[in-house]
Amino acid sequence: MKLLVVCLGNICRSPMGEGALRARIERSPLAGRVEVDSAGTAGWHRGKAPDPRAVACARRHGVDISGLRARQLQSDDFLRFDHILCADPDNLDEALALAPPQARGKAALLLPWAGITHASTVPDPYYGGDADFEHSWSLLEAAAEAVVRRLSARPDSGIIGP
Ligand code: 4NP
Repeated sequence: MKLLVVCLGNICRSPMGEGALRARIERSPLAGRVEVDSAGTAGWHRGKAPDPRAVACARRHGVDISGLRARQLQSDDFLRFDHILCADPDNLDEALALAPPQARGKAALLLPWAGITHASTVPDPYYGGDADFEHSWSLLEAAAEAVVRRLSARPDSGIIGP
């Protein structure tokens, strides 16, 4: 199973989401069975490390995302990944615009897809401060928890064999 987390710049929300998901999956029975990557619908920050505020936020929660590098979402990602999980509706629209017709069903909003009901969007913290990064992190961490629950609960997922 391959999951791709998508935001706008791939320097704040999606690298934090990638880090939170990867850390949570590694502590679960899904360890080694789920691959996680991230990308941005915009290419402005291609090749750059995550925003220092995102790196610091993840570090406060015990996760090192400093080695990640930004890249832009491409149509090919719809062939390489099982689910394209977007932080907000604008980025879902941008992702869908790149999707090959037969793969449109792979794109979804991360939080509802994970099973989170109290929020549907991970707000963009880029123009905010540490509290905004913490808020985004808390949603992404809740999503990571819910993703593990969702994937573990599906015997047909091919992830947990009999
Ligand atoms: P992200 O945040 O989509 O969570 O990575 C942003 C990063 C950069 C910009 C906007 C949002 N920007 O305008 O450069």
